[in-house]
Amino acid sequence: MKIMINAFAGAAIALASSAPGFAEEFRLGLITPPPHVWTKAAEAFGAELAEASDGEHSVTVFPARQLGNEAEMLQQLQTGALDMAFMTVAEVSNRAPDFGALYAPFLADDVAHAGRILRSDTAKGMLEQLPAKTGVVGTGYGMAGLRQIVSRGAVESAEDLSGKKLRITPFDPILDFYNALGAAPTPMPLPDVYDALANGQVDAIDMDVELIWKLKYYEHADTIVQSDHMMFPMVGLVSAKVWSGLSEEDRATISELMAKHVDSTIDSYVEMEQGWLDQVRETGKTYVEVDEDFFGAAVEEWNAIWSEKSSVLGELRDVSAETAED
Ligand code: BEZ
Repeated sequence: MKIMINAFAGAAIALASSAPGFAEEFRLGLITPPPHVWTKAAEAFGAELAEASDGEHSVTVFPARQLGNEAEMLQQLQTGALDMAFMTVAEVSNRAPDFGALYAPFLADDVAHAGRILRSDTAKGMLEQLPAKTGVVGTGYGMAGLRQIVSRGAVESAEDLSGKKLRITPFDPILDFYNALGAAPTPMPLPDVYDALANGQVDAIDMDVELIWKLKYYEHADTIVQSDHMMFPMVGLVSAKVWSGLSEEDRATISELMAKHVDSTIDSYVEMEQGWLDQVRETGKTYVEVDEDFFGAAVEEWNAIWSEKSSVLGELRDVSAETAED
């Protein structure tokens, strides 16, 4: 928490002195649908903030891209038109490339290890870049588990993905990974994925298992490849413009409660990821488990590209080694 407060203090000096507290009706946007872990965490954050402020503050949550896609929401945060968001680190990494290092293939051995990396001082320290680079204050990290591949055709080796249109979340680290693999990565926002897979616009998708299960992506696939190849971090954000108008007390309460609720998503995935994997496996689709070897030279190629693009990749690798289990 001390690190976060220091980060915010720096941002605050640049932005404004503290203002007296007054009642606020905050708006919080996210792209995930109502049943998603992130959306539920956002609602729990709003409820706890209302309680902690004796009803002075409220948070209205706008899920499922109601306020626009993440790029649009980030712009709204910058102008102060939107107060808060729970957002993929992917979107932030488009403007602050250091964050791309969090997507290093096989940085985490499993979902619990991913959580330990995101809770490290190194990862938290990266949030200090956000006010200057993106006009937002980052309160802490959440997660959407590890990434898997769902394919309309058989996948026995990485060559089976060669030249295949494979849906990705639109951002550079994942684009570089699938380009290195020789697939044809196809950037596509979340709401368009189900239809694209169903009608064959894409041959495969890169996705987390919560949504493979809850949004039934497996229905239009032949093969589920459990690769666990990347973590998928999320970040809790407050508009720096809105932040500058808050009292010190409100900043402290909001940063503490938002950090707590985004962090709670890490525990949710640690607890539930295996159950979703089991349910997907039981659908009767071909289920393949692969490891780093499956991806051949693509992992090293990615590391070479991103050691140039991100200054923290080496440090995060050290954190990964320190927090790995024996
Ligand atoms: C995706 O783009 O795959 C995604 C975005 C937010 C949450 C989960 C998945």
